[in-house]
Amino acid sequence: MNEQQRKDFEYLVSRYQSTKGTKIDWNRVIPLSNEDDELCMYSELTEPSLEETKTLLDQLVVLKLNGGLGTSMGCTAPKSTIEVRDDRSFLDLIVQQLQSLNKRYSVDIPLVLMNSFSTKPFVDADLPKYASTGVTIHTFLQNQFPRLSAATERPMTELTEDDKEYWYPPGHGDVLTSFIRSGLPEGALKGKKYVFISNADNLGGTVDPILLKHFSAIDAEFLSEQTDKTLADVKGGTLIKYDGKVKLLETAQVPAEHMDDFCSINMFKIFNTNNIWIKIPALARAVESGLDLDIIVNRKTVPTPSGDVPVIQLETAVGAGISCFKGAGVNVPRSRFLPVKTTNDLLLLQSDIFDEEDGLVRLIPTLSAQPSVKLGPEFKLVRQFDSRFRGIPSIKQLKSLEIEGDVVVGKDVTLVGDVVLKGGEKPLVIPDGATISDRVVDGEL
Ligand code: UTP
Repeated sequence: MNEQQRKDFEYLVSRYQSTKGTKIDWNRVIPLSNEDDELCMYSELTEPSLEETKTLLDQLVVLKLNGGLGTSMGCTAPKSTIEVRDDRSFLDLIVQQLQSLNKRYSVDIPLVLMNSFSTKPFVDADLPKYASTGVTIHTFLQNQFPRLSAATERPMTELTEDDKEYWYPPGHGDVLTSFIRSGLPEGALKGKKYVFISNADNLGGTVDPILLKHFSAIDAEFLSEQTDKTLADVKGGTLIKYDGKVKLLETAQVPAEHMDDFCSINMFKIFNTNNIWIKIPALARAVESGLDLDIIVNRKTVPTPSGDVPVIQLETAVGAGISCFKGAGVNVPRSRFLPVKTTNDLLLLQSDIFDEEDGLVRLIPTLSAQPSVKLGPEFKLVRQFDSRFRGIPSIKQLKSLEIEGDVVVGKDVTLVGDVVLKGGEKPLVIPDGATISDRVVDGEL
């Protein structure tokens, strides 16, 4: 760590020590609703003219959070390099989206990738393939901090097998400081006014001139996209008002006795997509004066030659930044939130329920919602998923799919209605070309 990083790390640890045990006072939590001035409805926003769009896009930077590996799906390369549509990765599709916008509006919107020490080598190796796309790509490295021993709350002193076990990237909230400290805003991106930040795996996090026009017209410095919560996303963070200020409430901050209220879709109707628009001069000022984002404590164990050591990682989330700015929210359509957290999401995204053009992925017009998909633990890792789906089935007419046990799905399979596939002692193999309609297949077809 350099001197600045060491200071930032020490400040994070001291804030953790002075705030730990502080709980949110539930009586002061007020869910943000469409009636509040700070939350507007996407459907009420207006489209900019062609000239306006061009002017706004000229002032925009697109920044993708690309520090994560998607460890929950067993990825050892950045999640953004997983192939999602016709051999193209998230990153390929993102570059294609920008290439098409640049061409349509004769602009040059730069793409900025925030890498961590885990993702940087892969991304650096991939970058040359985008050289001829006409999209200018900048990268910067987020911080790496040492893990703390859970016992001493000081950097761990045990030997680790490699450096990767000693260091960790301190969450995507790190983007706010790391982006400014990268020197890009004052260097290659000088003059740009707006930055649009989203998760690299959210293909719904696209540049939308309607949102950009809205953001440029309001006096808020930080605009957070929220979407209507369904029963499938009860645990997402949500915007609230707390002592008159807009704040992001994360699951980890909710007192156990209020978890049911937090998960209720009647009480907390919206949740955070992690699509965020920030005015760059305001961001630079906020970083200069110190950003105190809520701290998330991530407890883990780290293998060392002398056994597993309990550690803590102090992390922050970018959405929490809203309370450090004049913040506002916008309630956007679900199409702006298409994350891939599990292989269930991957199956949906690779399937024929989505159309794709110029890197833009959209649910097909005949569907209003995605079917429900639950794959068993045998499909959890991307490599297991790839070997068990020899082809992605057609699911345009599917309502729900559950797969349990040892199941292999062949090519050109069509699934209709409610389908359950269960492997028995022998693997259940769904042959190429089969159609399965409203059936529970248990062990044998
Ligand atoms: P998450 O950590 O919320 O989700 O990151 P994930 O990538 O699905 O993580 P796994 O599967 O639990 O490992 C949301 C976004 O923030 C980026 C990730 O790359 C992702 O795009 N991120 C996360 C960073 O850039 N840096 C971090 O330190 C953490």
